[in-house]
Amino acid sequence: MNEQRLAVELPGLTLKNPVMPASGSFGFGDGRIALENDLNQLGAVVLKTTTKNARTGNPQPQIAQFPEGVLNSVGLTNPGVKAVVQQKLPALRTKYPDLPLIGSVAGESVEDYMIVAQQLAESGLLQALELNVSCPNVAEGGMQFGVDPRTITKLTSLVKQQVDLPVYVKLSPNVTDIVECAQAAALGGADGLTMINTVYGMRIDPVTRRPAVGNVMGGWSGPSLKPLAIRMIYQVAQQVALPIIGVGGISSAADVIEMYLAGASAVQVGTAQFSDPLACWHIIADLEEELDKLQLTSLTELRNEVKEGFLNERR
Ligand SMILES: Cc1cc2nc3c(=O)[nH]c(=O)nc-3n(C[C@H](O)[C@H](O)[C@H](O)COP(=O)(O)O)c2cc1C
Repeated sequence: MNEQRLAVELPGLTLKNPVMPASGSFGFGDGRIALENDLNQLGAVVLKTTTKNARTGNPQPQIAQFPEGVLNSVGLTNPGVKAVVQQKLPALRTKYPDLPLIGSVAGESVEDYMIVAQQLAESGLLQALELNVSCPNVAEGGMQFGVDPRTITKLTSLVKQQVDLPVYVKLSPNVTDIVECAQAAALGGADGLTMINTVYGMRIDPVTRRPAVGNVMGGWSGPSLKPLAIRMIYQVAQQVALPIIGVGGISSAADVIEMYLAGASAVQVGTAQFSDPLACWHIIADLEEELDKLQLTSLTELRNEVKEGFLNERR
């Protein structure tokens, strides 16, 4: 394998390849799959979103699976920032001294975000932070921050002032104008964007005539999210200079290439791990062959094409 071919440089992140498990799909690297496999082969690991206090999550069932995607209403279950900083992070870092780790931050208020961001950053164990302003599963936190451009700017700039780490703002697709939200993050000083979080959705079981998840509505993810992610990443890449980590429906190396063609500079994989727990490893293994098939020397080459813009071709 030619390591340089897949290598990616992003603010604060030197990645050997562009593939990382998305927040919420890999815990704190403490699940069975993480413990039984070599995380050093991944580009980076994004940790479960962390809040100030521990959260037990929403009523069961929290996850409903369908052929075309997954509805989840997990509700940011996590042990709280203190336990993450004192136990989860040191355990992962001791095992993987060189693995790029991205912490994910959420809160019920702007102050909460700042406290969590500061404590995660002060641990000295992370390379970057992701601001989750886009969780649809928490009534008092998350998505309400990510649908208001002024709040995105304020939150981003306050966190940026507070921490000495690159900050990636994870945008919500549950908005009318995604470009406005991306510009708001840029205005606040974001170093990059992660796009997209789940779509706010609902499913009803015809047999039980009950909502498919305990919290009635939840976040929709998986293959059927991909066209929305591609469209939003493409629109933002045309207008905003920040690097974009693409996420939403990726399950193959071909999907990674498509994300790059839309304007992403790295990718995250979430729901694909439900059907293939080793999806990230398999996608990485397939990437070079996919590049060969398309006669491409590197992923960066693909990313450069985006700057030309398909929209110019549209009448
Ligand atoms: C079960 C589950 C839990 C998730 N938890 C989080 C989370 O804690 N923080 C976050 O930013 N996104 C979370 N997400 C969203 C994913 O990180 C990702 O943005 C989304 O699922 C789209 O990607 P995918 O189609 O590859 O899953 C979660 C998604 C799922 C399915």
